[in-house]
Amino acid sequence: MQHNQVKPYQKSDATKKEEVTSMFDRIAPFYDLLNGVLSAGIDTLWRRKAIKTVQTRNTDLAILDIATGTADLALEANKQLDAKEIIGLDISQKMIDIGNKKIQKKGLDNTIKLELGDSENLHYDTGYFDVVTAAFGVRNFGDLKKGLSEMHRVLKPGGEMIVLEFSRPTIFPFKQMFNLYFKYILPLIGRFTSKDPRAYSYLYESVQVFPDYDKFGEILKDIGFKQVKWRALSLGICTIYHSVK
Ligand SMILES: C[S@@+](CC[C@H](N)C(=O)[O-])C[C@H]1O[C@@H](n2cnc3c(N)ncnc32)[C@H](O)[C@@H]1O
Repeated sequence: MQHNQVKPYQKSDATKKEEVTSMFDRIAPFYDLLNGVLSAGIDTLWRRKAIKTVQTRNTDLAILDIATGTADLALEANKQLDAKEIIGLDISQKMIDIGNKKIQKKGLDNTIKLELGDSENLHYDTGYFDVVTAAFGVRNFGDLKKGLSEMHRVLKPGGEMIVLEFSRPTIFPFKQMFNLYFKYILPLIGRFTSKDPRAYSYLYESVQVFPDYDKFGEILKDIGFKQVKWRALSLGICTIYHSVK
């Protein structure tokens, strides 16, 4: 099955993008808490490692965080990098609202700006950003190649793209054990905590059809990214993809 055919609610009259937007609007109030609980806090470490792969030590960077959600990756980028501006873009206003509260609480409103928008139609100039990032976002795109091409377009030549995304563990017996948790236990906890019966089943299903590891690397190369490298984290639960325009 193609990755864009797996949708949160599988309604025939709605696009994946529409369903993804309403799903994140619905689960936004529970998103941060559930992330922490379901990953036992490791998600914070994954984001930290993802930003650590940024090679440039230039100052005054312009950074775009795609599918920023509640802005955790944008906040991590601000911690580790010397940014003059960080834009976080997301299609769900409810996720942005929560992200904005976190940014305001930390007094970072002048550096990090969150904007409502679709990653498949970016309104930023070609070659504007030094670094483009996306954590757990690209799997949700309606059109993966279009979204990645847009990320490529807005990068400066030599600019870096970092994608952090779930992948499927391959090592026996961890693969089998994790699959039990991911397929059955996590959706059950998610169902009762997020009040959305489908969100965390969609998470499992969307990861199963997502092109991970070398397959994702090949897609990046086809789009025009160079020096494509990936590194699996936590025995392959998720992977950091680093590439250059
Ligand atoms: C799993 S969350 C990840 C949020 C955040 N990056 C993090 O690390 O926690 C995925 C986010 O992608 C956003 N998203 C999905 N499709 C999108 C699109 N086409 N354009 C912009 N944002 C999108 C969703 O609204 C959601 O906030």
